[in-house]
Amino acid sequence: MLGRSSLRRLKSETAALHARAEQYVRILDADATAADYHRYLVAMHGYHAPLERGLAAHEGLAAAGFEAPLRQKRALLEQDLAQLSAGRGQCAHDCPRLPALGSLARATGVAYVLEGSTLGGRYVLAKLPPALAALRGRATAFLEGYGDATGARWRAFGDVVARAIGSPADEDEAAEGACEAFARLIDWLALHERPLPRPDVVTARAELAARRGAP
Ligand code: HEM
Repeated sequence: MLGRSSLRRLKSETAALHARAEQYVRILDADATAADYHRYLVAMHGYHAPLERGLAAHEGLAAAGFEAPLRQKRALLEQDLAQLSAGRGQCAHDCPRLPALGSLARATGVAYVLEGSTLGGRYVLAKLPPALAALRGRATAFLEGYGDATGARWRAFGDVVARAIGSPADEDEAAEGACEAFARLIDWLALHERPLPRPDVVTARAELAARRGAP
C-alpha cells in the first residue's frame, strides 16, 4: 500500500514526457483557432476511446475500485465535437498503438495518465486564447472534465493506487505503464500536430507548482 508516494513517483518519472506532450498541444497558442481545437479533440478522442475501453475491461482495476464508467471522457469529447463539427467531419480513427495494460500495477500507471490530465485540463481551460475562450461552457466539456468533483475524484484515484501498488516492483511496473502511456500519446499527437518549442507552455506545470510553493 504505497499510495501517495507512488503518485509522487509517477509524477516525477513522467515529468519530462509531460513537458514533451505539452509541446504537441497547440490550443494554447495565442492564435489558435477552432480548427486547431477540433483537431486536438479528434486526436484525444482517438486515444481515449480505445484506451478507456481497455481500462474498463481490466478486472484487476475494477477490483481495486477504479470506477471506469464514471471516469470515461470519450462522451465529453464526442459532445464537444458535435458542437464544433459543422463541416469538419466526425471523429476519425482510434490510435492503433496503445500502451499495454497487463498487470494491475501497470494498468494503474496507464490510468494515472488519463486521470492526472483532468488536473491539467482545468488549467488549460483557464488559459485558452481569445478565439477558444468563447467556446467555454459550450464545447469545453472535455477540458472541464469532472468539474467541481475533480479534487474528490483525484483523491479517490489515489486510493485505487494505494490498493493496486503493494511493493517497489509494482511501483516500477506502474511507472513503466505511465511512461508508455505518455510515449504512445506523444507519437499519436505527432501524427496530428507539429511541435513548436513554446517555453511558456512547456513550463506550465512547473509554474503552477512554484505558485503553490510546491517542489
Ligand atoms: C498544453 C497542454 C498541457 C498543459 C498546459 C498541462 C498542464 C498541467 C498542469 C498545470 C498540471 C498540474 C495540475 C495541478 O497540479 O493542479 C498537470 C497535471 C497533469 N497532466 Fe497535464 N497539461 C497538458 C497536457 C497534458 C496531456 C496531453 C496529458 C496526458 C494525457 C497530461 C497529463 C497530466 C497528468 C498525468 C498530470 C498529473 C500530474 C500529477 O500531479 O501527478 N497533461 N498538467
